[in-house]
Amino acid sequence: MKTREIGNDTVGRERVGAIGLGLMTFDQTGTQPREQLAATVRAAVDAGVRLFDTADAYGPGDELGAKAQGENEQLIAGLLDELGLRSEVFLATKGGHTRTDGGGWDTDSSPEHLRAAVDASLQRLGVDQIALWQHHRPDPKRDYAEVVGTLKEISDSGKVRMVGLSNANPDQIRLAHSVLGPALVSVQNEFSPAFRSSRPEIDVCEELGLAFLPWSPLGGLTSAKGLADKHPAFKAVADDHGVSAQQVALAWELAQSECVIPIPGAKRPQSITDSAAAADLELSPDELAALDAG
Ligand SMILES: NC(=O)c1ccc[n+]([C@@H]2O[C@H](COP(=O)([O-])OP(=O)(O)OC[C@H]3O[C@@H](n4cnc5c(N)ncnc54)[C@H](OP(=O)(O)O)[C@@H]3O)[C@@H](O)[C@H]2O)c1
Repeated sequence: MKTREIGNDTVGRERVGAIGLGLMTFDQTGTQPREQLAATVRAAVDAGVRLFDTADAYGPGDELGAKAQGENEQLIAGLLDELGLRSEVFLATKGGHTRTDGGGWDTDSSPEHLRAAVDASLQRLGVDQIALWQHHRPDPKRDYAEVVGTLKEISDSGKVRMVGLSNANPDQIRLAHSVLGPALVSVQNEFSPAFRSSRPEIDVCEELGLAFLPWSPLGGLTSAKGLADKHPAFKAVADDHGVSAQQVALAWELAQSECVIPIPGAKRPQSITDSAAAADLELSPDELAALDAG
């Protein structure tokens, strides 16, 4: 698979497959057989996927409520160990969200919570240093500048190698970059054929040398499978190439900028194998223009 880069000379450069794997819905309901999830991890690595994206707040929240915190990190760490694939994967996680009873989500960016979240993720992932630790979402109860100060402290602690932001706007990205310097390597925001308003964040990432990781790059769990029906321009290009509309969507995202690394979710090996092929799908300028308009 074609590769892209995360990092810089100061924190080191990681070459990863241009398509990553989003793990949010891995066992979100607690119903997928472990063998199926293991096969999905294996298929991802076989296809050249290296960036795996989890978060401390991912887990079967409907079932476990607040106790879901940490479930997904534990699951992926266990699967990677069982499969002997730890060293193949650049494992990113996030902190700053919490789960509430009833399957809800809350935010907590207090210094105490973020510090404790890093320590808990280190333990669950079984590592001495987190490869990429992302601040999950701005907390409306906290001033972003104060949160960035906490991220700087966390970065300086050496417990995380690289820092990322998520759901941040251009001003927040610039502020964090001015404080964190080269420790800041990425921004993870929503971007897909159905959600295109993150273009300004992609531009800032390109300017500052940060990776941009589109989340829900196929439109999200409930819409991804219907992408061709919702976006006829993507279906038309897909039919011309004899590939899926999902593959075309990911190739179109990759064409936005060299800094883009989409992280499609998958719970089935076929899904990630198909998505991974997008890295090598070449779209012509005319096709890209049609997709931009469609
Ligand atoms: N930072 C944030 O705030 C935030 C928020 C949301 C998501 N995320 C990240 O983004 C990742 C992806 O988001 P998402 O899972 O919500 O949405 P998504 O990637 O847009 O869609 C996932 C869905 O697409 C299906 N799929 C994947 N590849 C396919 C293909 N090639 N052809 C047909 N269907 C395909 C999957 O099927 P199967 O599951 O059946 O394989 C799943 O149902 C998450 O895992 C998470 O890491 C981050």
